[in-house]
Amino acid sequence: MLDTTQLLILGVIAALGYVVFNGYGSRHDPREPPMVTSGIPIVGHMFGMLRHGVGHWGNQAKKHPQHPIIGLDMLFTKFYVISSPDLMQAVQRNSKTISFEPLLLFGAKNISGISDPKTLDILKGTESGGQGLGAKIMHSMTPTLVGKSLDQMNIRMVQLMRPFIDRMGETSTVDLYEWCRDATMAASTDATYGPLNPYKEREIQDAWWDFENGLGPLMANTLPWLTARKPWKGREKVAKAILKYLQANGAENASDLTAVRLKESTEGGLTMEEYSQLEVGMLIAFVSNTIPAMFWCLFDIYSRPQLLDELRKEVEGNALSVAADGTHNIDLAAIRESCPLLISTFQEVLRTRSNSSPTRLVTTDTLLADKYLLKAGNTVNMPSIPIGQRPDVWGKTAGEFDERRFMKPAQSNDQSGDKKDSRRAGGFLTFGLSPTVCPGRHFASSEILLVVAMVILRYDLAPVGGVWKEPRKDTTSMVSITGPVLDKFPVNATPRKEYEGAEWDFHVEEGKGQFPLVIG
Ligand code: HEM
Ligand SMILES: *[C@@H]1O[C@H](CO)[C@@H](O)[C@H](O)[C@H]1NC(C)=O
Ligand SMILES: *[C@@H]1O[C@H](CO)[C@@H](O)[C@H](O)[C@H]1NC(C)=O
Repeated sequence: MLDTTQLLILGVIAALGYVVFNGYGSRHDPREPPMVTSGIPIVGHMFGMLRHGVGHWGNQAKKHPQHPIIGLDMLFTKFYVISSPDLMQAVQRNSKTISFEPLLLFGAKNISGISDPKTLDILKGTESGGQGLGAKIMHSMTPTLVGKSLDQMNIRMVQLMRPFIDRMGETSTVDLYEWCRDATMAASTDATYGPLNPYKEREIQDAWWDFENGLGPLMANTLPWLTARKPWKGREKVAKAILKYLQANGAENASDLTAVRLKESTEGGLTMEEYSQLEVGMLIAFVSNTIPAMFWCLFDIYSRPQLLDELRKEVEGNALSVAADGTHNIDLAAIRESCPLLISTFQEVLRTRSNSSPTRLVTTDTLLADKYLLKAGNTVNMPSIPIGQRPDVWGKTAGEFDERRFMKPAQSNDQSGDKKDSRRAGGFLTFGLSPTVCPGRHFASSEILLVVAMVILRYDLAPVGGVWKEPRKDTTSMVSITGPVLDKFPVNATPRKEYEGAEWDFHVEEGKGQFPLVIG
């Protein structure tokens, strides 16, 4: 049952606080949150994490509903697990001493494999005595993932996406998960890197997946060329391809997103080789959550025939237009503005399927909400499973799938008044918790919603075997919170008679475009 990957993941988790902060969390202080055990002290939690990955935090919080915060002792460090919105807000108020930024250095070192101490110092946060370049690079991306820059990326993205959808009905069966993966990978990387996109080569994509799938052992970063050979080789190969791309001036015609990252990195003192290494890890943020989210959207819609029917009508009525030459266009702005059921369904899929757990590091001893002492070097986790399903936040139906949950009361034709608080923020953590909220959420939403809108209009999907039975999820993934799938999921895609012979396209214009999404 236990394999080396999982053991290494465990090592990574156990050492996280120590490595990032360089100090052991000291023993228990009575003002700290109550420590809970899981069977055998300490080891019980380790086994829990091996079996359930980050899901263990949520499971523990659910087991102790009387405590808004609990502590899990992991020997070298402690996890403080929060399950109350009030304490979450207290964490937000203390974002100087309970901070996301130290975790960026862990990414550069253990995920991207940056090892030069001088470079690590440049990347390290100013609060830890570094120059703070890691955070600067991250923050520089935010303005390039909204507005005009985002629209330009979307325009490129759909050009790559459409041929994948055209081909969906050409083979007798399609592995729906693999399809989401290949389409997202091709479209996202092209939109980001432009015409010389290094991931155009299948070989480079495959090498990247070797890296992503083997991240557990790679992150331990102990002689990785021996202990994690496949992901290490994958990372080397992709980094080389990115370097080649830079040398060919590929960034000249790339997105603003790539341009600002390159600019900040080189101005901050990184070499091209180091920048290329960081880029390999960066792609995790761009694709590892979008792919499973796209899959579960299609799964949850197609497995509910009535919802599928309603969504088809909404998209047909509000976001589809037929041009003079007969081309059927799906319009992104119209999806944003006039397809509330689709947008609400998307968020409900994320609420019910994702397993996010915003994580922060305590950098200075902090008294949380005047009550709980959080000691420096330990980690704070806010698992979405208990928080995203609390009846006091989400109402009586918190545990059910309600595709209208995120609609404004006037849109949802629900007169009971029970819906009033259902869009309340503070319980929706799929995109993180401010001040660290996913800046890519509008790009991800455009990508997923355009695909879903076109696929549902054009195809009937039927799983091979006839039933929409959930494939197994990879619960041990360290990087994806949206439920990556282990099994194949073959479907038959049949073009719908309604649109026989029709040509299709997307209509994406430069405009103001952002999605009205709820964030935590
Ligand atoms: C459904 C898809 C996605 C989900 C669920 C998601 C979720 C998240 C979450 C939970 C965080 C961390 C916040 C925290 O720990 O509090 C995050 C950070 C981030 N995401 Fe996403 N993400 C998605 C897609 C994307 C895409 C497509 C991009 C880029 C094009 C992107 C770029 C980023 C970046 C750069 C950060 C780091 C932000 C920072 O350090 O300030 N994400 N995302
Ligand atoms: C990160 O890498 C260092 C070596 O650079 C290693 O000693 C450490 O165990 C790794 N950290 C984690 C959390 O695995
Ligand atoms: C960028 O685009 C311009 C205009 O299309 C073209 O002339 C130039 O060669 C491109 N640069 C690279 C490196 O591909």
